[in-house]
Amino acid sequence: MQKLKKAIIPAAGLGTRFLPITKAVPKPMLSVLDKPTIQYIAEELISVGIEEIIIVVSPDSGVIEKHFGECEALEQRLLLDGKQKLYEIAKNTHRFSVKFVVQHEANGLAGAILCAEPYIKDEPFALLLGDELLVAKEGDKPCIKTLAEIYESTGNSVIATMEVFGDDVSKYGNIGIESEIDGVIKVNAILEKPSLNEALSNNAIIGRYVLSGEVMGMLKTLKPHGSEIYLTDVLDKLSKDGKLLASTITDDRYDVGDKFGYIKANVEMALKSQEIGQDTKEYIKELAKTL
Ligand code: UTP
Repeated sequence: MQKLKKAIIPAAGLGTRFLPITKAVPKPMLSVLDKPTIQYIAEELISVGIEEIIIVVSPDSGVIEKHFGECEALEQRLLLDGKQKLYEIAKNTHRFSVKFVVQHEANGLAGAILCAEPYIKDEPFALLLGDELLVAKEGDKPCIKTLAEIYESTGNSVIATMEVFGDDVSKYGNIGIESEIDGVIKVNAILEKPSLNEALSNNAIIGRYVLSGEVMGMLKTLKPHGSEIYLTDVLDKLSKDGKLLASTITDDRYDVGDKFGYIKANVEMALKSQEIGQDTKEYIKELAKTL
């Protein structure tokens, strides 16, 4: 089995739910407190020892490249001024080995993944969507680490799931469960955003995956649905061949591509912050009295 060494972060979507800011700022650059979402995501990868990241960007998103690059003038200035802590923060963003590939046309997630093919070829890869933030609970393993461990002990592709109810079921890919042993789910079918009646379970697919070396080749052979090809078609095929596993996340998950999810992420991260946590708590308590 090939070792997991690389990760893809697709960050080239149009971000229409966040217009007008996404006209000029790619959605994964939206900041939760002082850090863009995409940096939190890159930091998740430290837990699995992956430092080789391929970020799929849209043609005009130079700002993501700038964020992960060196800014010598700023760093020198912070050093000269003796601002060691700020220097470390600025320097930290270029600790990763990041390659960028451009998706010229926003033709969906699977199209974005295929853009990274020259760097992945037939290797396994972690896939982390650029607008979902996962924060491991104190003492728990990050979701991506659990997925990587399952991949490494089985050689199979593994996807992250969470339980959803009511109308939410139709907002996500849905999995059919064949069995579940020690938290590892054997998946036997995948549906793309089913109606409530069609759904196979309450388990939704969320934006973290570890995909085996055969996936890139399978993506190349897919038939399009309109202008898009669907990753879920590949996942469904893997599940029918008995080669797809899933794990239910224990992390806090924020859909920061959605306005309410974005606000929740900011409020909760502010409450956890050493710097402003106490002030935020007092502010929220006072505010709540007026609601
Ligand atoms: P979304 O499904 O949230 O799409 O993409 P979007 O275009 O970014 O946002 P809305 O729905 O218009 O508001 C999930 C992830 O996949 C990436 C996005 O950048 C996001 O991180 N993506 C999506 C691509 O890289 N390319 C695409 O063609 C579509």
